[in-house]
Amino acid sequence: MCRDRKMDKIMQLPAMKGFIRMCDDGWLQGWHERNGGNLSYRMTREEAALCADEFCEPGEWTAIGLPVRSLAGEYFIVTGSGKYFRNVKSDPLHTIGIVEINGQGDAWRIVWGLEEGGRPTSELPTHLMNHSVRKEATGGANRVIYHCHATNVIALTYVLPLTDRDFSRALWQSATECPVVFPEGVGVCPWMVPGGTQIAEATSRQMEKYQAVIWAQHGLFVSGPDYDTAFGLAHTIEKSAEICRLVMAAGQPVRQTITDENLRAIARDFGVELNEEFL
Ligand code: 13P
Ligand code: ZN
Repeated sequence: MCRDRKMDKIMQLPAMKGFIRMCDDGWLQGWHERNGGNLSYRMTREEAALCADEFCEPGEWTAIGLPVRSLAGEYFIVTGSGKYFRNVKSDPLHTIGIVEINGQGDAWRIVWGLEEGGRPTSELPTHLMNHSVRKEATGGANRVIYHCHATNVIALTYVLPLTDRDFSRALWQSATECPVVFPEGVGVCPWMVPGGTQIAEATSRQMEKYQAVIWAQHGLFVSGPDYDTAFGLAHTIEKSAEICRLVMAAGQPVRQTITDENLRAIARDFGVELNEEFL
């Protein structure tokens, strides 16, 4: 318990303020009904060191279920399991926390927050595996993993074929800037039971190639170096999914779209490399 302790440094940390703001932004978008969604941020060594004297009596070590050796000794800000994004801004101490990963990279313990018996998100195995994969894929730049129940993305998983190609093309063609934001496309995972190691492994395999992965009939996982980029990616994908769904529901045949030639022209002028497999 840390209730009577000082926590000015932790609460004033830009990474903590940004974390809380992102939870609130997601709530305001309507992507976090009840306890839906979760967020994690890999702290820098400097941030963790700055906060260390405000950490509390650590909790018990708990096995992750999957080893994440590249994350040994790292600290993460995480949302709590069963906690509501709606409440993060008004009550961070009970809804979010900081967890430490042990030296073997196979267990976590709470060092701050998640007061009165809270636990990190049930999707922690997916978050940590994705962090591990994205950390490697980006040379250490990636720090944020975000899961939201983006309404229109979920709706599309009922009507589009569940392939990376179909989703990537549908999203690229529904908003001109999409190919610039995620030129590699998006990955798609078939429906799976949430919260386990199977879905964590399937998602992290996709995260080797993509910054974003769609979970059929469930939601969206995105990654990024900072909150703005990760949130912006989720926002861009969800907006494009909304346009796609509106077009499908318009009751008119599609008369024109963004062609493959157009996509290539965008890639050329914006200097990004489009995933040619999807053209
Ligand atoms: P948690 O409350 O455990 O984070 O679960 C929410 C969720 O969206 C599961 O996929
Ligand atoms: Zn979910």
